[in-house]
Amino acid sequence: MGNRYQIAGSILSADPLAYGSEVADALEAGVDVIHFDVMDFNFVPNLTFGPSLLKALRKRFPKAVLDVHLMISPITEDKLAAFADAGADWISFHPEACVHLDRTLAFLADRKVKAGLALDPGTGPEVLDWVYDKLGFVLLMTVNPGFGGQRLIPVVLDKARRISAEIRRRGLPAFLEVDGGIDPNTITAAAKSGISVFVAGSAFFGKPDRAAALAALREPLERLGEQHA
Ligand code: DX5
Ligand code: ZN
Repeated sequence: MGNRYQIAGSILSADPLAYGSEVADALEAGVDVIHFDVMDFNFVPNLTFGPSLLKALRKRFPKAVLDVHLMISPITEDKLAAFADAGADWISFHPEACVHLDRTLAFLADRKVKAGLALDPGTGPEVLDWVYDKLGFVLLMTVNPGFGGQRLIPVVLDKARRISAEIRRRGLPAFLEVDGGIDPNTITAAAKSGISVFVAGSAFFGKPDRAAALAALREPLERLGEQHA
């Protein structure tokens, strides 16, 4: 990753009647990553979008980093292939929804997709122990999955610190992404826990001025950088 910190705008909070122009506006404002929340009314009590919207976004924005967060169950290779073929750069899924973790992560790596495991607030870090070397990233959910606009659950940041230390101990390149309740007030604590990619739904797409929203999220991170310098 070039930048030390990256902001991923979650289109869950964008205007559903205008996904194309919403993403254009976000990229214009300078967002680093587009976060694409897939929900199936089964794994979570909500339903969103699928590979056809992803494919259309990929076609219109060939250079955008598309980060697909699958909140669907069960995870199967045909579903992962559909999102990989539609143009996902990163794909994360929840271990509870997957029977053969090692095989599934290898399947994504073969398709040149950065693979991530998404952990619910109540899911422990042990699930990562035997697959760390196959992970591009870990997505730490700081809210229960299903909806935008919830409050960050602070104890998850303790888990982030533990996972971050383990990744460093093993000398691996995996990064940490945080998802849920990130805003200009909560982002500093998340960054201090070893997180480098911050998903923002309400605090980014939920705001009318995306450049201003992005600046408000980056400002505390810059201050943190100055403290370290
Ligand atoms: C929730 C989704 C999040 C959501 C975050 O299940 O995974 O990506 O968009 O929204 P905010 O930033 O509003 O908490
Ligand atoms: Zn998400």
